[in-house]
Amino acid sequence: MAVLTVPDQNLRIEDVAEIAAFMEKQGLWYERWDLSKLPPIEASQETILECYKDEIARLNERGGYVTADVINVSPATPGLDAMLQKFSPEHTHSEDEVRFVVHGRGVFHINPVEGPVFAIEMESGDLINVPAGTRHWFNLCAEKTIVTIRLFQDTTGWTPHYLEKSKHLDYQPVCLGPKPLFMRSEAGTNK
Ligand SMILES: [Fe+2]
Repeated sequence: MAVLTVPDQNLRIEDVAEIAAFMEKQGLWYERWDLSKLPPIEASQETILECYKDEIARLNERGGYVTADVINVSPATPGLDAMLQKFSPEHTHSEDEVRFVVHGRGVFHINPVEGPVFAIEMESGDLINVPAGTRHWFNLCAEKTIVTIRLFQDTTGWTPHYLEKSKHLDYQPVCLGPKPLFMRSEAGTNK
């Protein structure tokens, strides 16, 4: 499940309802979708979209999205680093950035109009909408692996517009370290 942090306030939220409420105040959407529908990672784009067709139809109605696709990124993806560097500096888009994580992990940082920068680490089952014009940036976690459903109002709108003064260098993604190492270290202290 997602973890929301506000680094400047040393705040960490893991409760789904609290994360959704925090995001809603900032004009963003956060939802958890039913993981029991989750197809195998090797499933086709059509199968993945079919599994979540009801949720997609609901969001299409709410946000005016007209197309959906599935993007699959891994260390084997050609040009991965160049692709990631496009979205790791702070930027905006002229349309919403809607993402449902099927597999893998990634972290969005949001720089809201009011209030401090916050980060949301997303994993399988998490949906986010970053509305058009919202200042944000995105990083993959250590595994550099993610499969997401994307919804679009107009695919031509989804290009990054970079900002003159950006904050992304002040906030490093916390999930760049491998998760299992942290767990092993904790286990070690219990011995
Ligand atoms: Fe973006």
